[in-house]
Amino acid sequence: MVIVVMGVSGSGKSTVGQLLAETLQLPFFDADDFHPEANTIKMAQGIPLNDQDRLPWLENLNHHIKSWDVQEGAVLACSALKQSYRDILERSVSIYWVYLEGSFTLIKERLDQRHNHFMSSQLLQSQFDALEAPKKAFKISIEESPEQVVKKIIKDLKNMNNAEIGLIGLGVMGKSIARNLLSRGCKLAVYNRVTAGEEKVVTNFINDYSNDDLHGFTNLEHFVNSLETPRKILCMIPAGSPLDDLIKAIDPYLEKGDILIDGGNSYFQDTQRRIDSLSEKGIQYLGVGISGGEQGALKGPSIMPGGQKEAYVQVAKYLESIAAKDDNGLACCTYIGPQGSGHFVKMIHNGIEYAEMQLLAECYTLLKPWHDNDEIAQIFEEWNSTTLSSYLLEITIEILRKKEDGSYLLDQILDKAGNKGTGCWSSKIALDLGMPTSIMTQAVFARYISAFKTKRSQLSTLIQWPKIEEQPIEVQDLKKAYQLSRVVNHQQGFELIQNASQTYDWELNLSEIARIWTNGCIIKSTLMVQCIHVLKSDNNLFNNKDLMEELQTNETALSSVLIKALKHRLFIPCFTEALNYWVGMTTERLSANVIQAQRDYFGAHTYQKNDGTDRFYHTNW
Ligand code: 6PG
Repeated sequence: MVIVVMGVSGSGKSTVGQLLAETLQLPFFDADDFHPEANTIKMAQGIPLNDQDRLPWLENLNHHIKSWDVQEGAVLACSALKQSYRDILERSVSIYWVYLEGSFTLIKERLDQRHNHFMSSQLLQSQFDALEAPKKAFKISIEESPEQVVKKIIKDLKNMNNAEIGLIGLGVMGKSIARNLLSRGCKLAVYNRVTAGEEKVVTNFINDYSNDDLHGFTNLEHFVNSLETPRKILCMIPAGSPLDDLIKAIDPYLEKGDILIDGGNSYFQDTQRRIDSLSEKGIQYLGVGISGGEQGALKGPSIMPGGQKEAYVQVAKYLESIAAKDDNGLACCTYIGPQGSGHFVKMIHNGIEYAEMQLLAECYTLLKPWHDNDEIAQIFEEWNSTTLSSYLLEITIEILRKKEDGSYLLDQILDKAGNKGTGCWSSKIALDLGMPTSIMTQAVFARYISAFKTKRSQLSTLIQWPKIEEQPIEVQDLKKAYQLSRVVNHQQGFELIQNASQTYDWELNLSEIARIWTNGCIIKSTLMVQCIHVLKSDNNLFNNKDLMEELQTNETALSSVLIKALKHRLFIPCFTEALNYWVGMTTERLSANVIQAQRDYFGAHTYQKNDGTDRFYHTNW
């Protein structure tokens, strides 16, 4: 290998180059010794060289570099200030560039201290003017001593052939993230364990996406050793025990400072446990929520990293490069906060997602008695051209129109929905924190109810079903009801995040969370863009005047929709809950006085009065 140490005069190229050559036991050359005679004469006369003069010199150097490259290699000190010079030097050969960076003042100071050396400020300035800092080089500040500089160069050289980042798990999401990283020019090592029937996962991936920057492994130790240090390893494997098993298996090969990144849908308290236990060994751990499904992961997901900030800083460039971009071109990836906060925020993203999906399913329920799938798609399409637009609405339109064997595919699909647990976790933690996120919980229950297919089928035969009225549901009312319910759903989700932020002392930025949810993720929507602005000034959407006015206006429409649904026995738990919550939260006096009294009656739990004091009373009922 040929190493070229470059920089302006006085940056210390020769000193560093010689020391580096000595340490690596390579020959050292100074580019100034390769000038043709005509140049040497010009320089001796104090006449500056122009680009034309430099051409034969650069050609000659390129010739030598090529021959050193096939021999034992070399270290060359050369100013190589312009990119066009470097292009000539690197013609048909690969060079490892070291760029010594320093400020004008520092270099001038050093030159002035040098014995027998004079360079006017003007001459040095002309070097700085000509300098085009290289993009592709190991950059190092000359403020460090030559010994330190050489040490760092050697460390980088050792890392050079190693992958920048490792990825474990070539499932659907893992493969897409791996391809995304490769497309950003990242040097990547992938690992997948070998299981019966899946022996060729790694080989197939390498064959399909063959790339000089990609290396595949089925041996965990070899995989870990192929990574530059500190190692950065992204785990894209199922949450729960598979992840714990992997951590146990990889732990012996990891060293202090290495970073493990969990890109799965892990429970946030599990993430916290893993952060704590790995930190005992000095291993850093990030819990990173990734949303967007297979396509998002490939083209740009929304990324929610949480854990140690220092660890995030070291992997930020990779995560931010693969993330989707928001309307202002910023990455939909931001450091969320400490501990398991990244996974917490992703969990609530999914809770909101469950409710958004169920609300659309309920719109379908409310339209289906009077409209065929194409008509429903048409209605949704109109909504999608307004502020109601969202990714979920968009895909639902396509789903409604999809035909297979001449009939709507949707009509052929069983009405029984599964889940992987994040909606349930969101609801459970909301209950623990005392937060009424009732819409997402109803969405979870709706999936659970759907699962009782056999029982439902039996019971439905016993029911006297009401006749469908001729008059269809008012689409304008439904649109307003949907609008209201979505705002309530988002309010509940953000309020839960805010509560967790205070409870766990995470200092989360709700507006920034909304920002990274405006692209790449499943719940991206125009409403989310609106939330960025609203949440900048207040953590509660209900405190926003415009949203509040809209909610008030839409209430009547929601009530009309519910009345129609009740009459026809239509199952719309999320719409119903949206109205309950909205009415409950905007009612001054609820019936909880009765509950207080009952508790005191049978259990002497005491109660408070409307007397404005903190006093608790007990009555012998
Ligand atoms: C996403 C999704 C993704 C997945 C969830 C939900 O943001 O990309 O939320 O993480 O769809 O696992 O799955 P369930 O509906 O099966 O719970």
